[in-house]
Amino acid sequence: MSAPRWKKALERALDANKKSVVYSFATVDLSVQPPQPRTRTVVHRGFVEPKGASHPLLLTTTDIRAAKVHELNGDANAELAWWIEGTQEQWRLASRAYIVPHPEHAEQVKIPQALFDIADGHFWEKERERIFNSLSGHMRASWARPAPGSPIPSYDEGKKWPEKLGGLGEGKNEEEEQVIRKAFENFALVVLQPFAVDYVELGVVPNQRTKFTQAGETWKEVIVVP
Ligand SMILES: Cc1cc2nc3c(=O)[nH]c(=O)nc-3n(C[C@H](O)[C@H](O)[C@H](O)COP(=O)(O)O)c2cc1C
Repeated sequence: MSAPRWKKALERALDANKKSVVYSFATVDLSVQPPQPRTRTVVHRGFVEPKGASHPLLLTTTDIRAAKVHELNGDANAELAWWIEGTQEQWRLASRAYIVPHPEHAEQVKIPQALFDIADGHFWEKERERIFNSLSGHMRASWARPAPGSPIPSYDEGKKWPEKLGGLGEGKNEEEEQVIRKAFENFALVVLQPFAVDYVELGVVPNQRTKFTQAGETWKEVIVVP
């Protein structure tokens, strides 16, 4: 099975707009009444296709202690909204969302067997390590801070935290290596498995909008009013 048409179009847009790597990522917070939508900005870290080209997954990253992880834990869906300015396209991807944590945290996180039951049982942990090591030292240091969202007495508190961290095995001494390992423990992948895609093209006149919906192994495509 080949890649769905929406994925080829999205990749084309991203290839032409290398800086358009940021999207809004929405979850639903069920811990309050009425349930509250939550959105934040995250960085696209690429596609993976462990189950073949017809099942493209998107990756972003997070801190295992972040609020979005609690909002995704359980049977949760998420949605992302992506504005690609260069090609004047809006992409909205309704997705199943899964967290890939450090094995230490695996108990806390519901891992879907269908997605994770692939030939290479270490695929996801290797992917988590590859991405952790590929990110900037500033980013890696962010996972060595206290839990995101926890109160601190003043902004000066931040001066105590490491500014940059090397990748795994790159610590200058055992103490720094321990901090890197701690950051790696807090680091998690967010895996998005789209099931409905709403694609709006404002760069063409008349404007175009297409809805793609997953139907088993294939995708249904409907042209709709923008
Ligand atoms: C440009 C930009 C990119 C960001 N990328 C990420 C990211 O990839 N992953 C992430 O967890 N937070 C990222 N953040 C921070 C989030 O927007 C958010 O503040 C943080 O993750 C806490 O969100 P939460 O409490 O809803 O989990 C980014 C923020 C900005 C401004």
